[in-house]
Amino acid sequence: MNNNKPSIALFISGRGSNMQAILADSLQPDCPYQICLVLSNQAQAAGLAIAQAAGIAATVLEHQNFPDRESFDRELLQIITAYQADFVALAGFMRILSPLFVQHLHGRLLNIHPSLLPEFKGLHTHERALAAGVTQHGASVHFVTEALDSGPLIAQAIVPVLPDDDAKQLAARVLEQEHQLYPKVLRALAQGRLELRGNQAYLDGQPALLTPL
Ligand code: GAR
Repeated sequence: MNNNKPSIALFISGRGSNMQAILADSLQPDCPYQICLVLSNQAQAAGLAIAQAAGIAATVLEHQNFPDRESFDRELLQIITAYQADFVALAGFMRILSPLFVQHLHGRLLNIHPSLLPEFKGLHTHERALAAGVTQHGASVHFVTEALDSGPLIAQAIVPVLPDDDAKQLAARVLEQEHQLYPKVLRALAQGRLELRGNQAYLDGQPALLTPL
């Protein structure tokens, strides 16, 4: 890449709207990071064409072509090394990563999840939030550790759950916030303001979740 900004690889599996928001942010002159690669484990991911149209290197690595999780993850590591990624941001990447990959990227691997973690880990978060009758829902960005959707929280965006919401309406309200939240977190990461120490994320030296971005 052509400047000294930290490089981030984005991993996607589908639509790529978070990726698109991050790409748009990365093109702002004051943005402290650059996107060196978009990688999808699904060849039909719509986000790939969006990345290519933006002039970003976009590649597919299909997990079905590998005998096991570790061999797929070893290839992922080779690719991000080749692209000199400093960080990896999962943006709708619907594949569990092995301890090998997670440990290699300790403190440099982030994910966004559509719920106020630790509530509603896993899939179908909006449906489950509605079924549970919560009045608030949202999105979380966290460092990835070996336990699914359980890594140290960095930041959350909260939205209200309205009386007539269906899952689609609620998902759209959360997604709008995701598009604001993730680029902000990546800016802080690239500026060296974020750190993973033990099982706690720090922002500007303070517990991250309690510190405004
Ligand atoms: C986003 O809502 C993201 O939070 C979620 O997938 C969606 C991807 O949308 N991620 C997870 O559920 C991870 N467990 P996008 O492809 O349009 O960014």
